Amino acid sequence: MPSDPIIITIDGAAASGKSTTARHLAEALDLLHVDTGAHYRTLTRVLLDKGIQPERLAADPLALGELTLDTGIEGRRSTLLVNGASVPDALIRTEAINQSVSLYAAQPAVRNCLLEYQRSQVNVALDRGFRGIVMEGRDIGSVVFPDARFRYYLFADPSTRQQRRDNEGLADSVTRRDQIDSSRTQAPLKMPEGSAVIDTGAMDVDSVVNRICSDVKASR
Ligand code: CDP
Repeated sequence: MPSDPIIITIDGAAASGKSTTARHLAEALDLLHVDTGAHYRTLTRVLLDKGIQPERLAADPLALGELTLDTGIEGRRSTLLVNGASVPDALIRTEAINQSVSLYAAQPAVRNCLLEYQRSQVNVALDRGFRGIVMEGRDIGSVVFPDARFRYYLFADPSTRQQRRDNEGLADSVTRRDQIDSSRTQAPLKMPEGSAVIDTGAMDVDSVVNRICSDVKASR
């Protein structure tokens, strides 16, 4: 009988090391890598292009309209297709998106639109021959997969995280995004109860990845 899918959740604040860790884990354990931050960035781009502001969604959630969500797979990475089209990375990792994404992500209409899609990624992964998923975000271990066997919360002090983002050459105030993400009503950024906590300021990427790989291998 095939074993259960592996579901690894990685939550953490801006620039806490989630994406690098998740990418390496996908490679090491043959998993589909799902970056839910990219989902929120993509919907932000789509809504900004339509001229729909977050305040309008707050007043009228139906303003989001009917969006069809599908998945494209590039290597081990899952990409969100909205109405059949993907939005290139260059268009979702801009200063304008960094400024706006948390405001859109705070809207229940936006979060509700993505929740079932995100849960469906396990079946997408299995259909495509992966052993499961590694999903990163802010509410993955708390809301999207609260019962997952492998749940992690990454953290590093704010100055280390701001430095990482500055080194990438992107204008991005991580403390402003953290503040909005932690204080919203629905699915705020928080340490999921029962998750393992890892300080990425004190451990390098290989050590973090090895630690999580050992947990998975020990349990199977
Ligand atoms: O760039 P960074 O890794 O710091 O953030 P990201 O993972 O690309 O996420 C961008 C934004 O999406 C966050 O600041 C949150 O506002 C939102 N987000 C969320 O609300 N819930 C998630 N599960 C993932 C991201």
